Amino acid sequence: MNRRAAWITGTFILVILIGAGGWLAYDKLLRHDIPVYASDIDQFKYGSIGNDEANGLPYLIWRVLPTVFADHLPGPGGYASVGFLWEPGRDHSEAPIGFSHARVGFERMAINCAFCHVTEARLDANEQPKYYIGGASNTVNVLAYQQFLTACARDPRFNADVLLPAIEREVPLSFVDRLLYRFLIIPATRKALLQQGDQFAWADKRPTWGPGRIDPFNPVKFGMLKLSDDGTIGNSKMQVVWGLDARNAIRANAPLHWDGLNTSVHEVVVSSALGDGANAKGIDWNTTNRIEHILRTMQPPPSPIKTDAALVQRGQVVFAANCAECHAKDGARTLTAVPLAELGTDPHRDAMWTTQARDTYNNYREGYDWGFKSFQKMDGYVAETLEALWLRGPYLHNASVPTVADLLEPAEQRPRSYLRESTTIDQDRLGFVTGSCDPAHPPKQGFCYDTTQPGNANGGHLYGMTLTAEDKRALLEYLKTL
Ligand code: HEC
Ligand code: HEC
Repeated sequence: MNRRAAWITGTFILVILIGAGGWLAYDKLLRHDIPVYASDIDQFKYGSIGNDEANGLPYLIWRVLPTVFADHLPGPGGYASVGFLWEPGRDHSEAPIGFSHARVGFERMAINCAFCHVTEARLDANEQPKYYIGGASNTVNVLAYQQFLTACARDPRFNADVLLPAIEREVPLSFVDRLLYRFLIIPATRKALLQQGDQFAWADKRPTWGPGRIDPFNPVKFGMLKLSDDGTIGNSKMQVVWGLDARNAIRANAPLHWDGLNTSVHEVVVSSALGDGANAKGIDWNTTNRIEHILRTMQPPPSPIKTDAALVQRGQVVFAANCAECHAKDGARTLTAVPLAELGTDPHRDAMWTTQARDTYNNYREGYDWGFKSFQKMDGYVAETLEALWLRGPYLHNASVPTVADLLEPAEQRPRSYLRESTTIDQDRLGFVTGSCDPAHPPKQGFCYDTTQPGNANGGHLYGMTLTAEDKRALLEYLKTL
C-alpha cells in the first residue's frame, strides 16, 4: 500500500471510529426518550415532571437495590415496604404509581406528583384496594425511602462487583453497557446518593415522618435556597390536590398549602416540581401546564359510605351552626388562615415557613427567572373545604388525630398514640382503621404515631366540643357523605 492509500484508509477508519464513538455517546448518554401519555391520569401517575436527569436513579440500579440491600429496608416485600403502589397487573420491576420511567441517556426512575398525591383505600379489608388519584398519599414513607438509598450508598457492597451480577440476573447487558455501568454509572450514582444523604442529615435530628407525611419545605430551605438549619420541624400530612379551580371560585387567590404560603396555583405547581428535583434544563412547560390543568379540573371522588338519611339531615343542620363558617363553600372564613392563638393546633409546621424563606423563594432565580412573587407568610392554618373527607384521614395538618370521631372530642380524650398501618376505611369513626401502640415499644409493622413528639401534638381545633352525643353522631354521619 502506498503512503497515500494508507493515509486515506487511516483517515477513513478514524472517521468511522469518531462517528461510532459519537453515536455511542449519543445513544448511551445523550438520547432522550421521555414518554408523554395520552390520558391525563396516566400522565399524572407515570409522566415526568422534569427531574429525570437531575434526580433520576439509573433504572437498573433502582431495580436491584431492594434485592441486594433487602436488609436496609424497613420490612419484607421490597419497595412495597416503603409504601410504593403498583396497579394490578404491573410487575414490581415496572414503575410504581408516582414514578416516571424515562430514558435520558440511560433509563432512569424519578418521582413525580403522584408519589405523594394518590390515596390507597378500600371499604373492607378483603376488597382489592382502589387508587384515588389526586388524594393525599397514606402509604408512601418518603423518609424511609431516602434513608434506604443513603444506607445502600454507604454500604461497601454498593460497587460494580456486586451490582453488575445482580443486574445481569435480571437483564442481560451488552459489553459497552457493562463498561458504562462499571466505570461511570455505578460510581456516579453512589457519589450522588452519598451527597444526598449528607444533605438530608438534618432530618435525622428531628422526629421521623412516617407514611403520608414529609417536611415539605425544610429540604428546599436547606438545599435549593441555601438557608442555614434553623432547627424548625415542618412535618406535615400530604394534601389532596383536586379541584383547585373550585377553591379559587370560592375565594379568588385562595391560599395554598396548610399554612397558606402561596396564593398562585401555577407557582405551587412549579415550585413543587423544583422541590422534587426538577430544574430549568429539565422542565417541559407543556407538561407542567398540563399538570396544572389536571389539578385545576380533577374532581374529588364521591363518598361510597352508606349513611342514614334522617341522621345526615340532622347532621347538616349541626354542621351549618358549628362548622360552616370555616368549612362550607359559602363560609365567611373558608379558605382563610385561622390564627394559631385561636386555633390551637400544633405550631411547628407554621413556624417552619419563615419570612426569610418567603423572601428567598420569591427571589429565587437559579438557572432561570422563575418569576415567583406569591410566596407569603400567614399566621395559622387554612380552613379547607371538606370534600371527600372519608379519604383524608388521619386528620389535621400533621395527621395527629386518627378519626373525625376523635377530632370531635376534647384533646385529652383523643388517642395519645395510634398505629398507622391500614388503608381500610373506618366507616364508623371516619378515617382509616388504626390500631393502638406504645411508642416506647413500637411494633415491627406499621408506624406508631406519637403525639408527644415535637410537631405531632394533637390539641386544638376545639370546635363542636359542647355538642350532645346525638348531635355529634349526626354531624359525623353528615361528614361521611362529603
Ligand atoms: C414528596 C411528596 C410530594 C410530592 C412528590 C409532591 N407533593 Fe404536593 N404536597 C405534598 C405535601 C406534604 C403537601 C402539603 C405541604 C404543606 O403545606 O405542609 C403538598 C401540597 C401540595 C399542594 C397544595 C394543595 C392545597 O390544597 O393547598 C399542591 C397544589 C401540590 N402539592 C401540588 C403538587 C404537584 C403539582 C406536584 C408535582 C410537581 C407535587 N405536589 C409533588 C407532598 C408532595
Ligand atoms: C374557626 C374556623 C373553624 C371552625 C369553626 C371549624 N374548623 Fe375545622 N378546621 C379549621 C382549620 C383552620 C383546620 C386546619 C387545622 C390544622 O390542620 O391544624 C381545620 C381542620 C378540620 C379538619 C381536618 C381536615 C383535614 O384534611 O385533615 C376537619 C375534619 C374539620 N376541621 C372539621 C370541622 C368540623 C366538623 C367543625 C365543626 C364542628 C369544624 N371543623 C369547625 C377551622 C375551623
